[in-house]
Amino acid sequence: MNNLNIVILAAGQGKRMRSDLPKVLHTLADRPLLGHVIATARSLKPKHICVVYGHGGDQVRAAFPDADLAWAEQKEQLGTGHAVLQALPHIDAQLPTLVLYGDVPLTRATTLQWLIHLAGPNLALLTANLANPTGYGRIVREGGWVDGKVQRIVEQKDASPGELTITEVNSGILLAPAGALQRWLPTLGNSNAQGEYYLTDIVALAVAEGMTIATSQPLDTWEIDGVNSKAQLAALERIHQRNLADQLLDAGVTLADPARLDIRGNLRCGRDVFIDVNVVFEGDVEIGDGTSIGANCVIRNTKIGARAKLHPFTLAEEAVIGDESLIGPYARLRPGAKLGKDVHIGNFVEVKNAQIADHSKANHHAYLGDATIGSNVNVGAGTIICNYDGANKHHTIIEDDVFIGSDTQLVAPVTVRKGATIAAGTTLTKEAPEGQLTLSRAKQTSISGWTRPTKQPKK
Ligand code: UD1
Ligand code: CA
Repeated sequence: MNNLNIVILAAGQGKRMRSDLPKVLHTLADRPLLGHVIATARSLKPKHICVVYGHGGDQVRAAFPDADLAWAEQKEQLGTGHAVLQALPHIDAQLPTLVLYGDVPLTRATTLQWLIHLAGPNLALLTANLANPTGYGRIVREGGWVDGKVQRIVEQKDASPGELTITEVNSGILLAPAGALQRWLPTLGNSNAQGEYYLTDIVALAVAEGMTIATSQPLDTWEIDGVNSKAQLAALERIHQRNLADQLLDAGVTLADPARLDIRGNLRCGRDVFIDVNVVFEGDVEIGDGTSIGANCVIRNTKIGARAKLHPFTLAEEAVIGDESLIGPYARLRPGAKLGKDVHIGNFVEVKNAQIADHSKANHHAYLGDATIGSNVNVGAGTIICNYDGANKHHTIIEDDVFIGSDTQLVAPVTVRKGATIAAGTTLTKEAPEGQLTLSRAKQTSISGWTRPTKQPKK
């Protein structure tokens, strides 16, 4: 554990999101913005994490029920200085305190570790030099020199024309001793352009006490980018996705286009995995060695074995796909689909809550729901398991080496014994015995001398 407090500011409303959802609950890669910040905070192993909340408070708290978080309510948003003041009762007065923003989701933990290291018992600011610094607080240095001592921070709205030309900006992320915050924050005034209690005013107070102020900059400026609008959210989503794609490339995964896949959760890939364009991964997905994922697949909480092939437009959800299986195109694996080795599930086949053992195939247009299917089974096109009687679901068993002819309906509960053959068009309502041909079919008849109706002439 590090001897550190972390305060996350998350009380802002986020008017520019034009949404009923509190800003910090908007998601990046399917995880709330605040969730990203909390995860980064946790990775630093601090003694305390305190989230300052306000707008949509109950909803925000409910989204993070974990016991390791302390919550401080800021009833009115009177400024960042006032916000940090609310957190003081929840943190250790003896420790350095890192201030993060709940709407700045992509700061690297290593960037923060370096800031913590630089600060020691003093104040440290994370800053950046931006070509367009508009809107940010500016870092005012002695003599205006880039290496001059930091004197204070001036907000955009309070800055003189000269100060507005400063390109070094305040990210808002800083480190300060909790004891000093206790001294400084209650003394802050709000006679400034926005009538707010500025956290940034502590810099001048620290300077007045003779404290050294360290600054450091992140490797990439997106690390300090906040989300105030849907456009900024979309921009950060792309940056985050590109970072995740780069991690996959580093791990040896082949991506047809690193800009065209989305990972919303945890994706683990073996060696020599290929991922084509427009694939979406959600939740926990695992892909084994040598497996390839075709274009436009959506894969959620699914485990895929080695040397398998998902053809384009496959949708898999809470499924398990065995080694060397061939899935799709246009296959749908629903929760509880558990496929063994070398299973083929072809186009427009839907599998739900069904185990299918090794080397079995259902290549075209079928519904296989609530079933246990053995190995070497061949399911013909148009086969439907009628698992639902309108009130309850029932289970179907198909044993090894069965051949199911096309357009068969298996009315559950029903069992097809080992090696049975079911003729095309059968409606199976009773057990099909082992090794036999079972069929239910109206007898085929032909009517000789029958003539087709002809079109009547118009009157
Ligand atoms: C703040 C900084 C500015 C910096 C900028 C970076 C101050 C006075 N200014 O400006 O120097 O360049 O961030 O984006 O600190 N918040 C609360 N309660 C409040 C006010 C804000 O929790 O009463 C939270 C917001 O939810 C947000 C963060 O603090 O997460 C920053 O607030 P915001 O209003 O964006 O700060 P700025 O005025 O942009
Ligand atoms: Ca902001």
